[in-house]
Amino acid sequence: MVRGDITEQSVDAIVNAANSSLLGGGGVDGAIHRKGGSQILAECRALRASQYGRGLPTGEAVATTAGRLPAQWVIHTVGPVYSATEDRSALLAACHTNSLHIADSLGATSIAFPAISTGIYSWPLADAAPIAIAAVLATPTTVQEVRFVLYDETAYEIFQRTW
Ligand code: AR6
Repeated sequence: MVRGDITEQSVDAIVNAANSSLLGGGGVDGAIHRKGGSQILAECRALRASQYGRGLPTGEAVATTAGRLPAQWVIHTVGPVYSATEDRSALLAACHTNSLHIADSLGATSIAFPAISTGIYSWPLADAAPIAIAAVLATPTTVQEVRFVLYDETAYEIFQRTW
């Protein structure tokens, strides 16, 4: 657990809390494209054209290079929008599991996750943290370091306490 900005992490792969379009947005997604440069968006457009004509489904993950960021790769995943009436926790867990699978296929040994779905997608941090951490712990992987990068003090404390 670290408090900080995911775009500044020196790890093999950082995870983007993207949307299905893969074409950018606000929050983590906006910061990654802004600081990483146009190469990331160009690769996302190519993925849309080749593999994901209808967009990347919620819970799935796909990689691009990381442009000007210190990481080597960006793993884009689409978190579920929070619902108070429908349990979407399996999809939130799948974001973590599938991101680790992609990291394995890239040969990445270190990965940084943001608190997926807890911003614009409105998941309460105290609900999301145990789902995210449990999914990582339950996933067999060759990744040796998993870093959760929390942007503000409250998120950091909740993830730390949950861990
Ligand atoms: N580094 C680390 N964490 C951050 C950063 C950063 N630079 N910036 C924000 N956070 P969000 P979501 C935290 O909204 O909820 C986009 O428009 C933030 O405080 O980035 O999955 C996409 O295109 C929050 O705790 O992702 C989608 O449309 C967490 O990261 C949508 O937002 C996630 O917030 C995805 O929404």
